[in-house]
Amino acid sequence: MHSYHFDTRLVHAGERPADRAGWSSATPTSAPIHASTTYLYPTAEALDEAFAAGGDRAVYTRWGNPTVQALEAAMADLEGGRGAVACGSGMAALYLALLAAGTPRGATEPHPRHILASHDLYGTTETLLRDFFAAQSVTVSYCDMSDPAQTKAAIRERRPDVVLLESLSNPLLKWADVEAIAHYAHEADARVIVDATLSTPILHRPIEQGADIVVHSATKYLSGHADATGGLLVARTGLLLDTARRYAIQLGMILGPFEARLISRGIKTLGLRVRRQCESAMTIAQALHTHPRIRRVIYPGLPDHPQHNLMSLHTCGLFGGLISFELTEATREAAFAFINRLRLILPATSLGDIYSLITYPPISSHRELSDAERAAHGIGEGLLRLSVGIEDAHDILADIEQALAD
Ligand SMILES: Cc1ncc(COP(=O)(O)O)c(C=O)c1O
Repeated sequence: MHSYHFDTRLVHAGERPADRAGWSSATPTSAPIHASTTYLYPTAEALDEAFAAGGDRAVYTRWGNPTVQALEAAMADLEGGRGAVACGSGMAALYLALLAAGTPRGATEPHPRHILASHDLYGTTETLLRDFFAAQSVTVSYCDMSDPAQTKAAIRERRPDVVLLESLSNPLLKWADVEAIAHYAHEADARVIVDATLSTPILHRPIEQGADIVVHSATKYLSGHADATGGLLVARTGLLLDTARRYAIQLGMILGPFEARLISRGIKTLGLRVRRQCESAMTIAQALHTHPRIRRVIYPGLPDHPQHNLMSLHTCGLFGGLISFELTEATREAAFAFINRLRLILPATSLGDIYSLITYPPISSHRELSDAERAAHGIGEGLLRLSVGIEDAHDILADIEQALAD
């Protein structure tokens, strides 16, 4: 599909061979849901041949399922990677990415030595690093990856083998310069994993900037309708792809065909949804910026955001659909009261849906961190995160204003 513009590929990628010569009679327009766990071949020789093709032919669904493969093909095309592996959730994809990136070239088992991670990560990613890597003697260190000079120094001094960051961080919305970080990391022979859940392929495609692996929680913008949980890993090289695929098969970290279909369907409208969410988020952030009951609005589209210019350069002026803000009365009680007064915006613990959602990070995305850890990250008691949906921006804003006014 690579000859088409990006929005065309969003609609058609992965569904069926682009070339009519590859169609059989009655080729389905959209990839059907293949619920079968096993696939039949007329002879034992043909079955042996299918097995030998690895995950490329349908044999047994943990090895590869045609509906899931359609989603993987679409994501590989959109992100510009060699291939993709779909998993049961974003966390599974992140774990798989860390295992694959931490497998030395020529080795068959994961052996990460030092993971250099961004200071600003989703809470469960941070506890994954602590409980599954640091606890098994992997060195895990942190730096502020929105600061390229600090990141360069950390990579040169600490010589990590894996670098992990979020392109746009959750919930403080710090933007990272993936191209610069990938350059410094590759100088040190480290591999770079970018969790691009918040930026989506509409804003930014990290493999084009040098990342080795891109991860998405497909539960968010990619599916977009609060009805599917999944994760995707896209690898830049065949070696990383094969390693991730092998671990996914061994660990059973696969996605079911029904969820795969929902996510594939969500991807078709990703461009329409995300652009509208960006536009509405800008309108709402500008309006809240001067509100007397709000101490600080964090939105990269506002000129006072520290990475405003850099992000604008990388994302062609799109700044995402999330806004974080701190109430002037920075207490848990005030945050709870605000959430309880909202009528349209839903208090659901997610982001990237068609519905506008409000989240209070201390009880949700960063619940597993201690008060001190949250404070060290700049996540205060008055911080709320709004995920702007596709409703009319005036209705979303009016709901916030009435909840602040009470
Ligand atoms: C940035 C980011 N990465 C990964 C995840 C994990 O995704 P999932 O809930 O699909 O496992 C989340 C979940 O909120 C997230 O916000």
